Amino acid sequence: MNHTSTNTFEYKDRNFGDTESLVVATKPEVFYPTSTTNLLLAAVRKHADPAAATVLDLGCGCGIVAVAMAKVIFSNAKIHASDISAEAVQLTQQNAAAQQVAIDARCGSMFEPWAGMKFDLIVDDVAGIAEPIARLSQWYPPQIHSDAGEDGTRWIVNILAQAPDFLAPRGRIFFPALTLSNEAKIMETAQANFAKVELVTEQWYPLGNDLLPHMSAIEDLAARGMVELKKKGSRWLWATKVYCASKQ
Ligand SMILES: C[S@@+](CC[C@H](N)C(=O)[O-])C[C@H]1O[C@@H](n2cnc3c(N)ncnc32)[C@H](O)[C@@H]1O
Repeated sequence: MNHTSTNTFEYKDRNFGDTESLVVATKPEVFYPTSTTNLLLAAVRKHADPAAATVLDLGCGCGIVAVAMAKVIFSNAKIHASDISAEAVQLTQQNAAAQQVAIDARCGSMFEPWAGMKFDLIVDDVAGIAEPIARLSQWYPPQIHSDAGEDGTRWIVNILAQAPDFLAPRGRIFFPALTLSNEAKIMETAQANFAKVELVTEQWYPLGNDLLPHMSAIEDLAARGMVELKKKGSRWLWATKVYCASKQ
């Protein structure tokens, strides 16, 4: 379904035995969840420590990751969420209230709202697509915050550099790296700041009809090492890879 035609998002993952959907409200001013949302949640459900007591959803959009973590994964944890968009934070608060879960939702860039705090688990999903591609894509209409830089790493390299200070000693951060950004630079930063960095899952997708007409601009970015695509037969593919990093 085209997300401009709906004002809800339904989350359900049959691989984990979900029989009912978790439904959250969306609105045009706030990022609409994507396949990365589902992949991140699956990675967290499969690999995160279920005993995590303090959890942060960074770049929460409508709050789907925070709400799903509160409702489905960490029923006893204290859940936090933040976004640079005030509309996103407000919608996260509304979705938390509608689902009757407690979420401490705050507005600010990256870790700004969380000075002095430590988390057992951080799930990062702050905008991370090469800006020229983000703006040509259906994911980032003009009203949605991106500004991730020409290679998509502006926010994530800063987040990975700061995250160790916001993690408890045995804490872990899950983050997606899209090949529609400079994955090598993200990996270099992750390795420099964490003792352990593991690839948890990856999913390849054909380039969508929104981006195909812009192939020459995308090939130019690829030629300059900003993004990476694979050609399979006549199709161009890109991937989301989910990584988990820890200090020990
Ligand atoms: C890929 S969306 C993820 C939203 C949500 N997690 C989901 O799965 O639908 C990226 C989010 O990052 C937010 N964002 C962009 N720049 C940010 C920044 N500097 N700090 C915090 N959030 C930011 C955007 O407003 C957007 O909501």
